[in-house]
Formats: sequence, structure tokens, C-alpha cells
Amino acid sequence: PRHIYLSRHGESMHNVGGMIGGDSPLSPQGEKYAAALPALVLENVGDHPLQVWTSTLQRTVATARNLPYPKKTWKSLDELDAGVCDGMTYEEIAEKYPEDYAARDENKFGYRYRGGESYQDVVVRLEPVIMELERQENIIIICHQAIIRCLYGYFMGLSQEELPYIKVPLHTLIKLTPMAYGCEEERFHVPI
Ligand code: F6P
Repeated sequence: PRHIYLSRHGESMHNVGGMIGGDSPLSPQGEKYAAALPALVLENVGDHPLQVWTSTLQRTVATARNLPYPKKTWKSLDELDAGVCDGMTYEEIAEKYPEDYAARDENKFGYRYRGGESYQDVVVRLEPVIMELERQENIIIICHQAIIRCLYGYFMGLSQEELPYIKVPLHTLIKLTPMAYGCEEERFHVPI
């Protein structure tokens, strides 16, 4: 059977500072994940062909850097656009835009950041990626928390309400194996 591997980028400097969005480089811990990933992938994939898809943001490209397979970058895999809140911490958002913060809490799937996107918008922009995924063999996608939630939710048949709350830890490779009904799932955490 073919497999779809999903991983967030290694820890970024924005992750360390609790800031959302942006285009920051990997932290030293994130670099360690990028260094550990090829062996973990090789263990799983063996000599089967694999394609690596990343977003256009440097933290995903750097995480994929050491993987010796053909690569493709997709703008559609970039993280959910937080608009005016890009680069802020959740505390700063709650202070500067309290109504937005509450509205997001109320309806996380439908809430659209000012000048940015909602999870609903992301689901729409991922349609071409999902169509291409359905046609391909083994793929590893290295992207972002909100994007992985949408892709994972699609393959696991989760509801829109559940989707924004799916736990997607850093430094964890998720392996999905599409079956006749639904997907099998395995997770590999890389201790760093
Ligand atoms: O903090 C990492 C991050 O990927 C942000 O860039 C993004 O805005 C956020 O997670 C998405 O998670 P949530 O929808 O739970 O805020």
C-alpha cells in the first residue's frame, strides 16, 4: 500500500517565542529534527519512491533539506494566514483584539483573521493539493500545524468542528495508510 507522511516543520524561532505565523528560521532543536528525519523516513520507506512536498516558508524547506528525494514547494501549503495578527503571541492578540479572540474561541473553524484566513478558507485552498495527493504514490508533506490539521481531518474523515483542535505535536512523523474504508495511522515521535 502507499503511504502519506505528514510532519510539521522542526521547531522554529517563532515557536520558541510563542509567536504565530511569520517566516522564521529553525531553532537549534528544530535543526536537530531536520537532521534526524532522513533516518526515520528511510526506515519507513526503504527503497520505495518518495516525493517531498513543503510549503514556501523557510522552516519547512529547511526541515526537508536533508531528505534525498525529489522535492516540490506549494504556496497552498503555507500556514494559515493570521492577517493583522501575524507575528503576535496569543496574549498580544487577546489584548489588542479581544473581540476577535473571543469570536475565534466561539467558532474556530469559521473565524477569519482580519486581513487573513479561516480554517474554512484553508480547506478550500487545499483542494488542489488533495486532488494531486489522491493521484500520487508515497508522499511526505512537511508543513504547518493548521494545514496538517486540515489534511489529516480530510483523510481521517473528521468533522469541521473537530478539525481545528486536532493535536499535532512538533517533531512527530504521522504515517497514514489509506485503506478501502478510512486510513490506518501510526505516529513516530523523535525525542530531541
Ligand atoms: O503556533 C504555530 C502555528 O502554526 C501558527 O503559525 C498558527 O497560526 C497556529 O499554529 C495555528 O494553530 P491555531 O489554529 O490553534 O492557532
